[in-house]
Amino acid sequence: MPDTTQPALTPSGQAPAAEAWAEFDRLSARGAAFLGTPYAIMGGAMSWVSERRLVSSISNAGGFGVLACGSMGPEALAAEIEATQALTDRPFGVNLITLHPLLQDLIRVCLEAKVGHVVLAGGVPQGQAVRAVKDSGARLICFAPALVLARRLVRAGADALVIEGSEAGGHIGPVSLNVLAQEILPHLDEVPVFVAGGIGRGEALLAYLEMGAAGAQLGTRFAAATESIAHANFKHAFISARARDALPSIQLDARFPVIPVRGLANGGSARFLLHQAEVVARVQGGTLTRDEGRLSIEHFWAGALRRAVIDGDVEQGSVMAGQSVGMVHSEQPVAEIIRELVDQACAVLARRGAPRPGFSSAAEKGRLG
Ligand SMILES: Cc1cc2nc3c(=O)[nH]c(=O)nc-3n(C[C@H](O)[C@H](O)[C@H](O)COP(=O)(O)O)c2cc1C
Repeated sequence: MPDTTQPALTPSGQAPAAEAWAEFDRLSARGAAFLGTPYAIMGGAMSWVSERRLVSSISNAGGFGVLACGSMGPEALAAEIEATQALTDRPFGVNLITLHPLLQDLIRVCLEAKVGHVVLAGGVPQGQAVRAVKDSGARLICFAPALVLARRLVRAGADALVIEGSEAGGHIGPVSLNVLAQEILPHLDEVPVFVAGGIGRGEALLAYLEMGAAGAQLGTRFAAATESIAHANFKHAFISARARDALPSIQLDARFPVIPVRGLANGGSARFLLHQAEVVARVQGGTLTRDEGRLSIEHFWAGALRRAVIDGDVEQGSVMAGQSVGMVHSEQPVAEIIRELVDQACAVLARRGAPRPGFSSAAEKGRLG
């Protein structure tokens, strides 16, 4: 396990300037304290990908892994939490989908396993779920898609928020992180706010920390990590892809809503368009009711993420990926990804504080100025 109590080394193998490290540490302090980790870097839950190995690796490397419950039932979730706890004694969280029919049972499983942080995803959580998480003593993290909802979630009891921009992989909202961050960060200080979507390098992490974010959540970069159980084809697709290949799913007809999901364009996404066109034609022709048509479109991707992640069918499966996929260049161990992010952030700070004639440090520059 890497020694995460020491500053990471720069890519050239040098320790970052102490001042740069101290500043990065200061900027990350709120998020790191909330998560109980050395770094305020969360590994976003990814269905089928964020299981015991990836999650424990992220936590062991000083980040904060989050298990994806997805469609798992209570017994499977209990087993996955226990297996993760066997691989790390560091904090990690559990991501539950609010629409899961057994949500209350899943929360109880988290309580019994003494999970410290529960993330409720996939919609604004109901009061009952919020209360159950809070009563369990776990910290509650929610997704806020806009400032009004962010405020409502904080009033309802959220202990931290994630704001996820449309650059992200998986299910997405309509607004980019660039805009969400400006809408929310300057106006909400009550709880730590983590940013997500399109973050692939430490410079971006630093920029958001300086805007007031408590930390960042990354998915895409970790999906292709060495410790990720994703199929080699899935990782290879990530390594080969450019940012422009990670596109949101397209809705053909407003009467048949499609929840936008960002992923790599492939044969499956082309077939999805054809399928929608066929459904629309059949409804218009009277051989399918509108409800049947909606269901048929909704079910098109059922099991498709598993097919890509586990079976390696990256041509017909759903290869969910964020635009940061363009910054995935190789399969790297999680610790190396985290170290790189920290190094890149510290390198910016070190350059800024580099001694110039008359100034010996950033701090001194401030005093003189
Ligand atoms: C393959 C994949 C699966 C995902 N599955 C989930 C999920 O099950 N639940 C969830 O809340 N977010 C999910 N996400 C979103 C991530 O948790 C994370 O917020 C997102 O990847 C961050 O943006 P990035 O991909 O640009 O790093 C998924 C993302 C990817 C790439």
